Amino acid sequence: MRPTVLVLGGTTEATALAQALSDGGYDATFSYAGRVAQPKAQPLPTRIGGFGGVDGLVNYLHEHHITHVIDATHPFAAQMSRNAVAACRKADVRLIALTRPEWLALKGDRWTHVPDMAGAVGALDRGSCRVMLAIGKQQLAEFAVHRQHHYLLRLVDEPTVALRFDSYEVVVAQGPFNLTDDLALMRAHKIDLLVSKNAGGTAARAKIDAAREMGIEVVMIDRPKVPKRIVVGSVDDALRWIR
Ligand SMILES: NC(=O)c1ccc[n+]([C@@H]2O[C@H](COP(=O)([O-])OP(=O)(O)OC[C@H]3O[C@@H](n4cnc5c(N)ncnc54)[C@H](OP(=O)(O)O)[C@@H]3O)[C@@H](O)[C@H]2O)c1
Repeated sequence: MRPTVLVLGGTTEATALAQALSDGGYDATFSYAGRVAQPKAQPLPTRIGGFGGVDGLVNYLHEHHITHVIDATHPFAAQMSRNAVAACRKADVRLIALTRPEWLALKGDRWTHVPDMAGAVGALDRGSCRVMLAIGKQQLAEFAVHRQHHYLLRLVDEPTVALRFDSYEVVVAQGPFNLTDDLALMRAHKIDLLVSKNAGGTAARAKIDAAREMGIEVVMIDRPKVPKRIVVGSVDDALRWIR
């Protein structure tokens, strides 16, 4: 039977996979959550928006006769990944995750590991400093309890809700980022603490390398746990799995 593939996207890896599936003439659909105002155009038919939880995804898989799901979402998109595991089990559809290894601290890195966002907020309970928050937009509000800091927020879109920080600046930019630019940005804003998710991969790595060069601390948020599933690390492996 000819495979019918659903790609859960929102990452650089998902975009590379979409190109490979298109080049290979696969019957595949790309799915975005709809968080970003102008998501990257994909060379595959694209749908945007949540499925409506596990049951909604099960219905989608049945209605569209999906045979293979590739979860290429961000390592911190844990809800989507959990839903994919549960829905594919229920619908008896094959599932893999395409993801990247997490970052490991190198010599000279000054990382404080925290298990989750609440841990990162707790780690900022200290005297005033200049913090770069590179964590996306969804959980920014949690940091408003620490008004003593100045925040540099790097976001994909301009914020649409009021941010309750006393002192902050927004930089709107979409990755991939490079070391030269991130060093310049962090130096210009006199950043002395970086908060980052352990996203892994290369697109968002530059700020971590810049922090090491500057000798500043990184509050590193560990990855959330997701249920066991088959994981591949490259587009080629994902294509081999489909075949
Ligand atoms: N979290 C991050 O740090 C981060 C960073 C970069 C990119 N992203 C991307 O941004 C998107 C949302 O991430 P998140 O952390 O908000 O996800 P999440 O918390 O795991 O997911 C929340 C809900 O959003 C919907 N959703 C998420 N990804 C989807 C997709 N690719 N297609 C359709 N619906 C999706 C699902 O809604 P329903 O339950 O209604 O199906 C899901 O239950 C993902 O595509 C992810 O790859 C996330």
